[in-house]
Amino acid sequence: MKRMEEMILKEGKILPGGVLKVGSFLNQQVDTAFMKEIGEEIADLYKEDGVTKILTIESSGIPIAISAGFAMGVPVVYAKKNKSSNVSGDVYTTPVKSFTHGDTNNVVVAKEFLKPEEKILIVDDFLAHGSALTGLISIVEESGAALAGCVAAIEKGFQMGGDRLRASGYRVDSLAIVDEMTDDGITFREQ
Ligand code: G4P
Repeated sequence: MKRMEEMILKEGKILPGGVLKVGSFLNQQVDTAFMKEIGEEIADLYKEDGVTKILTIESSGIPIAISAGFAMGVPVVYAKKNKSSNVSGDVYTTPVKSFTHGDTNNVVVAKEFLKPEEKILIVDDFLAHGSALTGLISIVEESGAALAGCVAAIEKGFQMGGDRLRASGYRVDSLAIVDEMTDDGITFREQ
């Protein structure tokens, strides 16, 4: 998505450790007009796929998933992060380690919101090492629902999570893929 690349170039700030700050439009302040375009782009990518529900993870995946949900006319479920290892009840859960923050959360989705007859699209803001998407995929697989694919607003290609998931046979679409970030600039993958 050309507009995503333009927004990253205009607004993004490169921090040490391979972190790209996009808090001015994507994950703290939200540019609502741009968010609408993101939702429409995701809807267009999956218009032939019979998606019945979108699954994301709190917190920064939620605005993107809601926008896509509006555009596709489907509900959105978001996985909650729970630091306690003591999760019980009628839930799917899987540990997700954050490389960026160095901690692990148990990601939790109530079983009543994922049924085997559904076709799920997973949406998130960043795809870095792929741990969040891998956790969400395992929850969808455990539920017996079909997985249409995964969408990330921004993939950091140099952290390899996206390519690992594609190599495992999953459909992964990213609206922009950053292959390199240096003080001299940002290189996007042609797609
Ligand atoms: P992974 O899920 O792809 O393996 O990514 P990783 O563990 O590295 O990322 C952990 C968290 O940091 C995720 O948010 C992810 O969206 C975010 N993140 C990763 N790389 C970047 C980056 O370059 N810039 C920004 N702004 N965020 C990044 P989270 O912990 O789930 O937090 P949130 O969704 O509540 O914001």
